[in-house]
Amino acid sequence: MRQLIAGNWKMNMLRQPAIELATALRDGAQGLACDLLVCPPFTVIEPVARALAGASVATGGQDCHTAQQGAHTGDISPTMLRDAGASWVILGHSERRQNHEETDELVREKVLAAVEAGLTPIVCVGETEDQRSGGQETEVVGWQLAGSLPKPFTGVVAYEPVWAIGTGKTATEQDVAAMHAFIREELVRQFGDAGQGIRILYGGSMRPQNAASLLAVPHVGGGLIGGAALKADDFLAIARAAQAG
Ligand code: PGA
Repeated sequence: MRQLIAGNWKMNMLRQPAIELATALRDGAQGLACDLLVCPPFTVIEPVARALAGASVATGGQDCHTAQQGAHTGDISPTMLRDAGASWVILGHSERRQNHEETDELVREKVLAAVEAGLTPIVCVGETEDQRSGGQETEVVGWQLAGSLPKPFTGVVAYEPVWAIGTGKTATEQDVAAMHAFIREELVRQFGDAGQGIRILYGGSMRPQNAASLLAVPHVGGGLIGGAALKADDFLAIARAAQAG
């Protein structure tokens, strides 16, 4: 299974730097043996997708609504993401779960709407620092998986320990190995054989310096990268680590 290296640009990038970053990724992505994806903010999905047209880098959104259209001021529908040039969408990121009180049930509804619109969802799960220090990490992630993924599920899961996001603290290889093995078991329990083929990304302070070792851990199917996705050199260095791992 090819690894997926996905960049989550979060609420960063105006039009001009976004196009420059996309262009640098397009040029640098040739010949890489992993799949590449960037998820810019809504306002620059179209110019980024245009800059990446014909290149081996896909474009995605960072969230979407559960409906395809309607009276939802300020929201963006999955169909609109498709229309702007996206083929993927990140759903249930911990920043959405925390800052917008997104529940597992809402995330599952969004996954269904995204798939209906032809998008591939990346569903994020992960425990907080308190939950980990309380020994509840697998229980929490197990509930998130059971609640957030519809049956059947055609997408990708991202394990992102909340305490590792944007903090420079990375989970140890042992922690990642244990959690990814647990997630694989849960996916097989939920989806049978199909659960074996679902890619499980690791996310949380992945950098060029730690990417090779994290991406070599069993059941790690790629990375979801925030801060290091904003610099072409760093993102491409992580993508090359995936190729080697
Ligand atoms: P980070 O973010 O790489 O900056 O820790 C990862 C994410 O939130 O997806």
